[in-house]
Amino acid sequence: MGERTNALVLGGGGREHALVHALSKSDAIGDLHCAPGNPGIERLAEIHKLDPRDAEGVVSLCRGLSVGLVVIGPEAPLVSGVADALRDAGIRAFGPGGSGARLEGSKSFAKNFMKRHGIPTAGFAVCDTLDECRAALAVRHPPYVIKADGLASGKGVFLPEDAEEALGICRGLLLNGMLGDAGRRLVIEDYLPGRELTVFAITDGRSFRLLAPSRDHKRAFDGDKGPNTGGMGAYAPVKVPEGTMERVTEEVLRPTLDGLRAEGIEYRGVIYMGLMLTGSGSTAGVSVVEYNVRFGDPETQAVLPLLRGDFGQAVLACADGDLSRSPALRGSGSALCVVAASGGYPGDDFERGLPIEGLDAEGPGMAGSFVYHSGVGRGERGEIVTSGGRVLSAVGVGETFGEARGRAYSRMSAISFKNMHYRRDIGWSEE
Ligand code: AMP
Ligand code: GLY
Repeated sequence: MGERTNALVLGGGGREHALVHALSKSDAIGDLHCAPGNPGIERLAEIHKLDPRDAEGVVSLCRGLSVGLVVIGPEAPLVSGVADALRDAGIRAFGPGGSGARLEGSKSFAKNFMKRHGIPTAGFAVCDTLDECRAALAVRHPPYVIKADGLASGKGVFLPEDAEEALGICRGLLLNGMLGDAGRRLVIEDYLPGRELTVFAITDGRSFRLLAPSRDHKRAFDGDKGPNTGGMGAYAPVKVPEGTMERVTEEVLRPTLDGLRAEGIEYRGVIYMGLMLTGSGSTAGVSVVEYNVRFGDPETQAVLPLLRGDFGQAVLACADGDLSRSPALRGSGSALCVVAASGGYPGDDFERGLPIEGLDAEGPGMAGSFVYHSGVGRGERGEIVTSGGRVLSAVGVGETFGEARGRAYSRMSAISFKNMHYRRDIGWSEE
């Protein structure tokens, strides 16, 4: 074993807790740091108060701590070029620079990129004026799909059922600044019926490793009812029709990586392929709904616990541009993650600072399960309290899907805080 590399993870949610957890088991990683982290991460890494978007601050923190690898969790620092600043300073980064991050930071860039490289995606129009929106809506049928071009924290996609409402949304975005600058340009696209699937590939820009396919549950309530959220649970692996992963590789991933290279964009990090599985049997296909340039939340909490192999080594190899020499990352078993949210979420009007009970429950019923912290903070006396909308994930792992689900829900049933809510049907589509 060579020298260990000190690593810093940027971010402070459940995804970052899962990343820190996976890196903490690596023989290639030395000291682990996280900024800004959370109380769960604090048990595995030294945490630092710092805004992950503060490129100068991140570089100087790395210098002070002899950090040789930075894993960037959220999209905002990627889009604003923190990976570029790190590479310029001679520090390895896992995550694309600003040019690659446009795959997530601009929907119109992503759609045009897919068109240029023949990657399957819904037909679309890019609209800068209300007249362009009218024309794009006129040639489509409900439900209409309207997307703000820029980053909107998951609030930038609208699926109105009627044309009047659709035009109202376009007006609100383009003219009334409903989502600020993110909504000054819109993508209007065809509705794709099908089932959604998330696939992560880690890459050095050329070689790649696919991770287990997963599925997020975006609606707030059971039966996929209620408003959209940042994600109320996920599981992996999803049982996909035969040939799906080969299709994802050949029709989406390879042309994406080839396209990035052809456009002179060096991409080292993870590509999140948000896919729609369309048709069935001989008409089965995959189509890209969105790219993200980071791991998904909460999918990561279900995907990383399945990995066998040294995740830290693979991440370092991606950042070094040298993944082909790194061993395969195999997965085994199943994992399921259930998110507990604050009462009132996904609205903004929820209470914070509520004590959380049962985080460290022990006993035979707790085997094969654990908790990742998201919106968790500390109260005045240092006690663990809620601090956000999505508070924590209970994760169960097991040989089978049923075992993983049983364990995740046993773990969740030991936890409580005032007005907590969670879905009881995560993984229903696997039945
Ligand atoms: P996005 O942020 O682009 O992933 O969109 C958010 C959600 O809207 C997706 O997860 C889908 O559920 C839905 N969605 C987006 N685009 C389409 C589409 N073209 N057809 C059907 N559903 C879509
Ligand atoms: N789970 C959806 C996302 O991370 O964008």
